[in-house]
Amino acid sequence: MFLVRLVYTSKLSDAFSSDDITDILASARKHNSRNHVTGLLCFSSNYFLQCIEGSRSAINRTYHRILNDPRHEDIVMLDYKEINRREFSHWHMGYVPYTALTRDVNMLFSGSPEFNPYEMSGESAHQLMLALKDTVDMV
Ligand SMILES: Cc1cc2nc3c(=O)[nH]c(=O)nc-3n(C[C@H](O)[C@H](O)[C@H](O)COP(=O)(O)O)c2cc1C
Repeated sequence: MFLVRLVYTSKLSDAFSSDDITDILASARKHNSRNHVTGLLCFSSNYFLQCIEGSRSAINRTYHRILNDPRHEDIVMLDYKEINRREFSHWHMGYVPYTALTRDVNMLFSGSPEFNPYEMSGESAHQLMLALKDTVDMV
């Protein structure tokens, strides 16, 4: 059972309300701990950016659940890769709040200081999340 990593971005849909982030994280952590999936979720006023890592079958199932959640839309896979080791093994879903997505951090990994993952390469999005590991809020 080898490991893969998937990175995607999406936009908040009209069905999303700000309280939903707590529900999304609780549900994600419940499923992920059962399926040995780890990763990071960045959330801003407009966008989600998420990395999930685990066995290929677990990541397939998880991504399927994510695609079917009406609280977001325009879901675009930025990167999918076989990996040798996990990078977010401490978190069944670590949460990076908007305040960590500073102009300086965005400038490092994208063409402008605004956070817009649709404008980022898969590798830049992955590197951005690695750089944000220290800011993860573990609820
Ligand atoms: C931004 C976002 C991130 C999500 N991340 C995960 C995840 O990491 N793992 C997962 O199983 N589901 C994830 N989901 C899917 C939902 O939480 C989904 O509704 C849930 O898994 C449904 O199962 P439940 O009815 O048991 O809560 C995510 C959904 C959204 C909108």
